[in-house]
Amino acid sequence: MCGIVGYVGKQSASPVLLEGLKRLEYRGYDSAGLALWEKGGFEVYKKTGRVEVVGQLVTKAKPASNMGISHTRWATHGGVTDANAHPHVSFDGKLALVHNGVIENFATLKRELSSKGIEFKSETDTEVLVNLIAYLYKSAIDEGSERDSATLLTAMRAALAQVEGTYGIGLICTDLPDQLFGARKGSPLVIGIGRKENFLASDIAAFAGRTQDVVYMHDNEVVHLRADDFTVTTIQDAAVAPVISHIDWEVENSELGSFKHYMLKEIFEQPTALENAMRGRFSQDGSTAQFGGLNLDARELRQVDRILFLGCGTAWHACLVAEYLIEKYARIPVEVEYASEFRYRNAPMFRNTLVFVVSQSGETIDTLEAQREAKRKGFRVLGITNVVSSTIARENDGGIYQHSGPEIGVASTKAFISQIHIAGMLALYLGRMRDMSFSEGGEIVKALKTVPGMVAQILTMADQIEAIARKYKDYEDFLFLGRQLMFPIALEGALKLKEISYIHAEGYPAAEMKHGPIALISPKCPTLAFAHKGEIFKKSLSNIQEIKARKGPVIAITNAGKEFPDGLADDVIHIPECHDIAMATLSVIPVQLLSYYIAVLRGCDVDKPRNLAKSVTVE
Ligand code: AGP
Repeated sequence: MCGIVGYVGKQSASPVLLEGLKRLEYRGYDSAGLALWEKGGFEVYKKTGRVEVVGQLVTKAKPASNMGISHTRWATHGGVTDANAHPHVSFDGKLALVHNGVIENFATLKRELSSKGIEFKSETDTEVLVNLIAYLYKSAIDEGSERDSATLLTAMRAALAQVEGTYGIGLICTDLPDQLFGARKGSPLVIGIGRKENFLASDIAAFAGRTQDVVYMHDNEVVHLRADDFTVTTIQDAAVAPVISHIDWEVENSELGSFKHYMLKEIFEQPTALENAMRGRFSQDGSTAQFGGLNLDARELRQVDRILFLGCGTAWHACLVAEYLIEKYARIPVEVEYASEFRYRNAPMFRNTLVFVVSQSGETIDTLEAQREAKRKGFRVLGITNVVSSTIARENDGGIYQHSGPEIGVASTKAFISQIHIAGMLALYLGRMRDMSFSEGGEIVKALKTVPGMVAQILTMADQIEAIARKYKDYEDFLFLGRQLMFPIALEGALKLKEISYIHAEGYPAAEMKHGPIALISPKCPTLAFAHKGEIFKKSLSNIQEIKARKGPVIAITNAGKEFPDGLADDVIHIPECHDIAMATLSVIPVQLLSYYIAVLRGCDVDKPRNLAKSVTVE
């Protein structure tokens, strides 16, 4: 993970870098740091904790430098300490480096450098890389090379050629005023081209509003930036003609407003996220959905006889919802795999398989690599992503943008709901190409359109759900049970609760409870159970009875109204009855709110839970 930002220009660098880092904190927030070029050396500010902690140090010092690099860390190699925070300065004080990625052969390289007398101050793989480049640079100078950018670039290339693993790096050198260097392999890196200033970052968000012209770097490329120019080459030193993309920044509201946390704000933005996911996506005759960006015509789509969905975490849960809905309404067999497993599994795949990857950020490394593997095998890969121009979106063959707006809270809420709503629309679209009738299509379109209003109605129950949260906040274990379409929602509920409140929670298909998890049931382990109307309603009620018989507290979520037996559950959350296509969308709202309030009541940092990052860009 980790986010890097570099700046070279005429402005004071530190405010630019700090603002950029704040916007990249979703990539990790274990520590933050800046290195600013100063005549004869660097000024380095780094500290464990959030960007604002290092920001206070910098603001006090008021550095005037016009060039620097910075970093927000999600720890991989080495604990969360000041010494392990980036930037790392080389043994001779000549180079400072920030890094996003993992140097897999760092131990071997470190041994070799140590044998040459180089001492290390941190436990990081990054310090190995900066020392390796510095060692090669110093050796070249000792042999008579100039202290110039050509010598440094040669040293960088030689060092990177020895590195196994992934990196997006930013590098500055005391010998080279006003020059900034970068390289990428496996971790994102983008150049921002300004007027007499240039930027380097892990994500364009870092320089949003400062320039609209960007160059997305590719793997094995190196960049050399000056304030008024930049050059891209490959690691093998071949020239690269950079492709400049013009970004239209969507002016989106990233302010908290009256909300206490981004997560709560984003939960309340869900009706709008759903409207945005549907806008312009229904046919004129009101019988089906339409998607502009799939880059597949109806004939090609009819030939698809299997779909594979790939994703991680919450996005994987959205894939499971998609499986259920597409198999039910379009009758196409769907498989779902963790992207992280798929990429190494070499699974046999049917010829006419269409692959969908689902990712809010569009940067999750496992999902990106799974996409690359499916493409290498010759499969058509489409994406459901939220972040426009993210790496996944740029590299796939087409897809569907969610238009959920920025999701800042680490726990995904509005992005999930929009993914599963899109899954419903996709089921409709594919179903209409097969056996679904015009009138059934029309009914589903109507049902999908009513969902934002129903979500808004459930959100009015926030106070009731907060009161339930008060009763359950001190438990340390939770079970979430749901059958069929509610199984992925049970998994999502368990994930939401554990990631933000640190309560141990497990999701299970309700009937599976008897095959093991029932052993956990006791007055100390509450269960959240979904019991919706339909063919398995009675079975779901029986499962609740089995829990009550073992004195397990139960919170039920139901759309059965008065049909839900009085007194069966300890607490009941009633949601509106709706078409099956929208049941998952409505059912997830109460579990999001319940998890949120429990976490707040336990005093947890809801938007930045411990050990997590919004975008998981390392394996
Ligand atoms: C969600 O609450 C999690 N923080 C996490 O599981 C997330 O959904 C997962 O890392 C995938 O992220 P992506 O959608 O950006 O690929």
